[in-house]
Amino acid sequence: MLGNFSYHNPTKLYFGEESLNYLKDEMKNYGQNVLFVYGGGSIKKNGLYDEIIAILKECGKNVAEVSGVMPNPTSDKLNEGVAIARENKTDFILAVGGGSVCDYSKAVSVSVNCNDDPWEKYFIRFEEPDCDIIPVGCVLTMTGTGSEMNGGSVITNRHTKQKIGHVFGDDVMPKFSILNPKYTMTLPKYQMVAGIYDIFNHICEQYFSGEDDNTSDYISEGLMRGLIHASRIAVENPQNYEARSNIMWTATWALNTLVGKGKSEDWMVHMLGQAVGAYTDATHGMTLAAVSLPYYRYIMPYGMKKFARFATEVWDIIREGKTDEQLANEGLYAMESWMKEIGLVMNLKELGATEDMIEGIADATFILNGGYKVLDHDEVIQILKASMG
Ligand code: NZQ
Ligand code: ZN
Repeated sequence: MLGNFSYHNPTKLYFGEESLNYLKDEMKNYGQNVLFVYGGGSIKKNGLYDEIIAILKECGKNVAEVSGVMPNPTSDKLNEGVAIARENKTDFILAVGGGSVCDYSKAVSVSVNCNDDPWEKYFIRFEEPDCDIIPVGCVLTMTGTGSEMNGGSVITNRHTKQKIGHVFGDDVMPKFSILNPKYTMTLPKYQMVAGIYDIFNHICEQYFSGEDDNTSDYISEGLMRGLIHASRIAVENPQNYEARSNIMWTATWALNTLVGKGKSEDWMVHMLGQAVGAYTDATHGMTLAAVSLPYYRYIMPYGMKKFARFATEVWDIIREGKTDEQLANEGLYAMESWMKEIGLVMNLKELGATEDMIEGIADATFILNGGYKVLDHDEVIQILKASMG
């Protein structure tokens, strides 16, 4: 392991079919006024809304609500939530939903006691909170983002067509997260597979960087192998608890800072995907799937050894007699076959992107320098064009 780092993760996890039982105990640690945040209604359909309300009532809490948090939550919705939290003197935010609800709740938590415009402060100027942060707890219903155990918050500004993530520190991470794989069973298949690819790509973004022998890479390979295995079972039978529970647990470990330790980390697939999201409002995991292969094929020559290792260690491709380049190509081919097999969207057209958007998407793409190749603007355009399908 090269480099110097500290490791601490303050989020307490409760995992399994009985995990909601712990909500009552947790609620004793926080104030009276709870802001219950959720999405567009899936939790009302599957009964979780009623269960949570009953628990909060039993705990004697005053409950205010923010409903309708959309996938890719917007800065306008953030301002609305901040106003509701202020009116209700919120002591604690309970996020019940997927990454969007959880990310949104973190953004509200750092904005309630802050006089600045949150979009400008946190997502344009990238400042850190200098106010009291409202604690957040999470009951997760969709797996993929890792938001349940990280400080990430991604907000979309529809006026300026920007989708920007801020990774906040320990004090913004959820205090606790409740992970019951059963809750993910009502997800439409499209969302399930998008989440699976989001997990896979989070691991890739950290794995495809650096050249040292690094423990994080071995952990990543194990997580990827397990995820590929579970994904195949879950696609065949979405009600398979064992597979869904493995997917849920992998998602958390894929992006809770563990496998990034000692890594410079790439994140260009996410930068491209987020820019696409800003223009199309497409599902996050699908935006990543659509740009991944053109991106990885483009950077492969600059990180050939790692792509060859990816082929042998993740996809079980036999090394004997092959060059690194052959292996690397076979690895990406195996990845492509798996992506098609589980039903991912493999091009941007299907997500609503049009040729005339490409220039704008490229301009909205942040260029990072932790991966094997630092792209320039023309290369971004080239990759986006190759992703159109
Ligand atoms: O709104 P409802 O009705 O709940 O429906 C949601 C939504 O339409 C539905 N859903 C969630 N749980 C369900 C369910 N439907 C049926 N049954 C259930 N149990 O699924 C849809 C998608 O939900 P969403 O929360 O948007 O998905 P996801 O968890 O993928 O979150 C995406 C957001 O997270 C950001 C993305 O950019 C995007 O804005 N990310 C956050 C990260 C982080 N915090 O570190 C990192 C990621 O890379 C990502 O960027
Ligand atoms: Zn992601």
